[in-house]
Amino acid sequence: MTTARPAAVVVLAAGQGTRMRSATSKMLHAIGGRTVLGHVLAASQGLDPERLVVVVRHAREEVAAEAVARVPAVVIADQDDVPGTGRAVQCALERLDAAAHAVAAGAGTASAGDEVGLEGTVVVVAGDVPLIDPETLAELHAQHVAGGHAATVLTAVVPDATGYGRIVRDEHGRVAGIVEHRDATREQLGIREINSSIYVFDAAVLRGALGRLGQDNAQGEVYLTDVLAIARADGGVVGAVQAASALTVEGVNDRVQLAQLGAELNRRTLTRHMLAGVTIVDPGTTWIDVDVELAQDVTILPGTQLHGATTIGTGSTIGPDTTLTDVEVGEGVTVVRTHGSLAVLGDGASVGPFAYLRPGTHLGAHGKIGTFVETKNVEIGEGSKIPHLTYVGDATIGEGTNIGAGSIFVNYDGVRKHRTSVGSHARTGANNKFVAPVT
Ligand code: UD1
Ligand code: CA
Repeated sequence: MTTARPAAVVVLAAGQGTRMRSATSKMLHAIGGRTVLGHVLAASQGLDPERLVVVVRHAREEVAAEAVARVPAVVIADQDDVPGTGRAVQCALERLDAAAHAVAAGAGTASAGDEVGLEGTVVVVAGDVPLIDPETLAELHAQHVAGGHAATVLTAVVPDATGYGRIVRDEHGRVAGIVEHRDATREQLGIREINSSIYVFDAAVLRGALGRLGQDNAQGEVYLTDVLAIARADGGVVGAVQAASALTVEGVNDRVQLAQLGAELNRRTLTRHMLAGVTIVDPGTTWIDVDVELAQDVTILPGTQLHGATTIGTGSTIGPDTTLTDVEVGEGVTVVRTHGSLAVLGDGASVGPFAYLRPGTHLGAHGKIGTFVETKNVEIGEGSKIPHLTYVGDATIGEGTNIGAGSIFVNYDGVRKHRTSVGSHARTGANNKFVAPVT
């Protein structure tokens, strides 16, 4: 097996996604805390391609902005008004060839008019396949290179192939071509091996075949799938690699699939954490985003959702019924029935039940934010406790201090916010109002 880099990965993201019935492009719907397009870009980056191209058209600005945000070096290629996956790849290739020509001209190795184009392998990935992983892409690419193929398609065998392009094989079992559902004969409709819309092509083969594609099919589109039969007719070897799981290559076309793939992604994420030493008591009610980091011997109790860049240190117990977004939890912390975002909890701290941690909450080691307590933009020193029925906003509290039950830190005078400062080893009584600014 070779580890050669692909010359380019082309992600197709120009389609309309009508079946989502949404004002938002289907590429920008999220599962596991990341957009569908973000998942595909992350898997594509795993191949370390020389160029990563995203083809855009519908919701162009939003889709392009998301691509640039995830991969600053991404090349954006615009598809024109000719529809179809084949046209999308052609637009990407023209963009890449122009760039390759500019580089050659700049280096003085080509003069104007020279036919300098991209060389090597081009990987094409549909932008709506969020569960695709870098290992599957790498295996596809490696088999393509090792076999000296003109083209290689990633396929899957599915129980219900409705809507998919079918893989047509000859009497020797070799790939003869792909036929779309709407163009298939009754016999071809019985085929359950489907096209994933993920391929590797030799750049020269792809360029040559794209130029010969027509629009003579049921949808009147330029089909990328037709490249395979052309490559084979020209004497090239067309390979196929079957994905281990059909879900890995399933596209998001409607919100039912979005939910199904979201659940599968979550199941995979939970499995990864459990195998790495995290106890998850009830995987059925636990949702964890892909970027969340959990140390060994963390325990997650039922009804817990961990989002964004949340990190949990070893020995901590989170839940039940807790939602944390971008919260940094230290070691040996307990967080019970709590809703929190953008907070930092020190080692050995305890939170809840029924706490609301708002952005800027910093709880020191062995500190406590207790029952029916809301905090915002507050530094709480080591070992300090806010046990009951309290609102603390815009404050600094020293170490080893206890804030009495029913305290309100009155931080807002209707126009401006002010800070309250409480020293170390202080004890405040019950039912106080600290009208800021106050020390
Ligand atoms: C496509 C394949 C089909 C395959 C299926 C797998 C073709 C002709 N058909 O069908 O064989 O089984 O995917 O999910 O390729 N796109 C563009 N520009 C376009 C049209 C589509 O960029 O003009 C993008 C879409 O944004 C999407 C991807 O290409 O990311 C696939 O498009 P979609 O319309 O979902 O294709 P399918 O009909 O599902
Ligand atoms: Ca699709």
